[in-house]
Amino acid sequence: MFRNFSSQALERMALLENQDRMDRTDGTPRSRRLRQISKETGQFLALLAANAPSGELIEIGTSAGYSTLWLALAARERGQRVKTFELDPEKCEMARETFRLAGMEDFIELIPGDFLSLSASLSGIAFCFLDAEKSLYDPCFQLVAPRVVKGGLLVADNAIDQYEGIKPMMDRALADEQWDCLTVPIGNGEFICRRT
Ligand SMILES: C[S@@+](CC[C@H](N)C(=O)[O-])C[C@H]1O[C@@H](n2cnc3c(N)ncnc32)[C@H](O)[C@@H]1O
Repeated sequence: MFRNFSSQALERMALLENQDRMDRTDGTPRSRRLRQISKETGQFLALLAANAPSGELIEIGTSAGYSTLWLALAARERGQRVKTFELDPEKCEMARETFRLAGMEDFIELIPGDFLSLSASLSGIAFCFLDAEKSLYDPCFQLVAPRVVKGGLLVADNAIDQYEGIKPMMDRALADEQWDCLTVPIGNGEFICRRT
């Protein structure tokens, strides 16, 4: 699966990796930074999403679409689309450009707007990648959790580098008998929850 990116997709990903690296050191304001996952995290997410049970693949927090491309690899393998939600119109524009240049538009549905007000129509979620503002993790978990199918996965980013920020969501999931959870030390730390 990892070998299935076109040269155009790899070119766009390299550009985004470079921009993300520069963002972290050149004083770009937080609201404009890409704040992407690492390549290894993307590979890990693609493996998990490809092997999730039948159902929807969703992402909360698209930014310029780097993580979405990894999830789209899995979506293509499964013969479906990943739905990705992004609040910031400028990031939506960059993401559209990413998906077009990478030739991955057929495997992605970008949904602009606030996930908190867009989640009502979702059901049968097999895989959710949660990567928005950390204060939103707990409300997002509460909206997503009842919609996840048996054996489905919810993966939350920044479980190590922003542990305190996402602790309310982690504590909620860990205390809930319907979920098996653990933190995997890859990238910024991925908190993986499987619906029992
Ligand atoms: C950490 S970045 C996502 C990085 C992206 N997943 C990647 O690795 O390429 C977080 C993104 O979540 C978006 N966001 C924040 N609140 C949101 C909300 N309520 N609904 C949808 N997107 C939101 C932000 O605009 C930002 O682009």
